[in-house]
Amino acid sequence: MDEKQLVKEIKRLKKEKNAIILVHNYQRPEIYQVADLLGDSLELAKKAAETDKDTIVFCGVHFMAETAKLLNPSKKVLLPEINAGCPMADMVKPEDVARMRKEHPKAVVACYINTTAETKALCDICVTSANAVDVINSLDADEVIFVPDMNLGNYVQKFTKKKMIPFQGYCHVHHSFDEEKLKLAKEKYPKAVVIAHPECPEFILKHADEIRSTSGMITAARDSDAQEFLIATELGMIERLKLEVPEKTFYSAGAIRVCPNMKKTFLESVYKALRDDQYEIEVPEAIATKAVECVNRMMKVK
Ligand code: 13P
Ligand code: SF4
Repeated sequence: MDEKQLVKEIKRLKKEKNAIILVHNYQRPEIYQVADLLGDSLELAKKAAETDKDTIVFCGVHFMAETAKLLNPSKKVLLPEINAGCPMADMVKPEDVARMRKEHPKAVVACYINTTAETKALCDICVTSANAVDVINSLDADEVIFVPDMNLGNYVQKFTKKKMIPFQGYCHVHHSFDEEKLKLAKEKYPKAVVIAHPECPEFILKHADEIRSTSGMITAARDSDAQEFLIATELGMIERLKLEVPEKTFYSAGAIRVCPNMKKTFLESVYKALRDDQYEIEVPEAIATKAVECVNRMMKVK
């Protein structure tokens, strides 16, 4: 089938199966055509929680589909490419959380939504890039263990009096930004506003005018008086920004990497997911009961 036929078939199957298609901002632009909602992790999790459709097709990575299943367990949740994972989410192991808890018995344990359900089940509350500062500041604790992203943990530290104790994980896409390349881009486009994702290391964030989630970047670009922007996040986000804010210009702040896992999903994958009900995400009950508490505590804050 060509692209046009695939889009048509996906839309037909979506209706037939009473499904919703949730699409993360980093997905391939071809997937945007079939999205019911395009968004960041928080927006998509909220939509997954409230949908009354029978099936949720999650075009993103594994932890996102798993979170959707936690929030709306009676629905069938499909991840079109079962090997689309998040290497950062897999960096932290249950024994790491147990060890850190033992080392810091007074600390609350917060996790990034980029974690497995198994890790979430061991944590007290979760955050996303869109709400991390507010969620951490809402906690009744002086010390907060934060897993797995040290860059997000260190970013939050600048906006809280609580002591952040970050696990030393990172996203390889954001961690690979190069300060020298960003400086060169700033010299080339001196009027450009720098918008960075909080998964970037401090040596990049210190140059940022705005630090936002993926969807927050779109709002920031739209609301800004500036015409030009340097974007420090996964390379594909530039395409998304160009489509959403076509009157402005976006350049990469030196990104060399796309997120290979986010790019595993093609229209063909979505078509097969709907046609064959694949790949269904299940979370064992013992894990789900605990993990959903962790996510719901966040949902109550923001
Ligand atoms: P957002 O929640 O900002 O979309 O980020 C998710 C992610 O995986 C970024 O790498
Ligand atoms: Fe995970 Fe990084 Fe890919 Fe986001 S960009 S899904 S954090 S590997």
